[in-house]
Amino acid sequence: MISDYPMFPHRGLNMDVARNFFPVEDIMRTIDALSFNKLNLLHLHATDAQSWPLEIPALPELAGMGAYAPGMSYSPDDLAQIQTYGAYRGVQVIIETDMPGHTASIAYSHPELIAAFNVQPDWATYGAEPPTGGLKLNSSAVYDFLGTMFNDLLPRVYPYSAYFHTGGDEVNANVYLLDETVNSNSSSLIQTLLQAFVDFTHAKVRAAGMTPVVWEEMLLQWNLTLGSDVVVQTWQSDSAVANTVAQGHKALAGNYNYWYLDCGKGQWLDFPQGTAAQSAWPYADYCSPTRNWRLMYSYDPLQGVPANQSSLVLGGEVHIWTEQTDPVNLDAMVWPRACAAAEVLWSGAKDVNGTNRSQILASPRLVEMRERMVQRNIGAGPVQMPYCTMNGTQCVD
Ligand code: ACM
Repeated sequence: MISDYPMFPHRGLNMDVARNFFPVEDIMRTIDALSFNKLNLLHLHATDAQSWPLEIPALPELAGMGAYAPGMSYSPDDLAQIQTYGAYRGVQVIIETDMPGHTASIAYSHPELIAAFNVQPDWATYGAEPPTGGLKLNSSAVYDFLGTMFNDLLPRVYPYSAYFHTGGDEVNANVYLLDETVNSNSSSLIQTLLQAFVDFTHAKVRAAGMTPVVWEEMLLQWNLTLGSDVVVQTWQSDSAVANTVAQGHKALAGNYNYWYLDCGKGQWLDFPQGTAAQSAWPYADYCSPTRNWRLMYSYDPLQGVPANQSSLVLGGEVHIWTEQTDPVNLDAMVWPRACAAAEVLWSGAKDVNGTNRSQILASPRLVEMRERMVQRNIGAGPVQMPYCTMNGTQCVD
């Protein structure tokens, strides 16, 4: 007899397949590993500034020119294969097309839709990473494009997914200084235009039978009025979770201080010799240091959330942004650290007595889990030296 149930219904991995491309087999292997860990959602961050790998048959030029190379894109059959593979393993696949920021890759096929495309060298004024660029915010051509895009994509996603993620992180107001349909970086003007934008995309998602998901900035930075159905994915802080549910919205946790698997690899940007290199030395990335499994295990998605609002926290996602991850190191970047997040999402960060779970008890289990995953063809990295676990727990500080 096993009596067990999950603390949170939404237990996911957000995998960025736009910064680097991942063949379908890597995604299917990741779905296997998710299911081994009782994680039930794969959020594919399917498009971003650097590439658009998602094929839209009504707009063949989009991936045709926006993917990194021919073959580095997902056909409708690929998508259905991924979704079906997930469905048979209890892993719902959620697709994100991030917008209106993080969309420079649309400019490869539709330059007229994107403002501030690839501003150089001053990209940092207009975006978080090169290449800069955002969908024009007051453009009927953009809305026509989005209508065509969603009418093609959403019916293909719907049979497998309750949710569709419309993005919305890191919208940079300065982009709209260079957008002739806006010509301003006024927050109040951009807020009005973003409201119309999100109203449009969310109406499309709902009409297709799904529930919209957005990044936290849409609610917490831009103060948009979102439908009560909308799920807000937080990432910047614990207070973002608390503030979201305090407004009555459903929230996903995944604070980057704990659950960003990409952090700590050092900069991927190159720095010119001289003061730029000197001030960037020793080349830590923006979210250094590495989020190790113990830190991930210590994260409480309910931190700061009043008990009477905790049911609005649907769960969370651990994130692999892939500036420095590709199929070669994917497994070792995600596993076994995501196992620690999986246990938090299944069992909660605290035990029945409200005490933080013991890493001394967790580490032998994680070591075993890692061995099981390796036997099942997941390239999970080692947790400890065999010395630590061969004779009980030898390695307590
Ligand atoms: C994010 O890290 N921009 C969600």
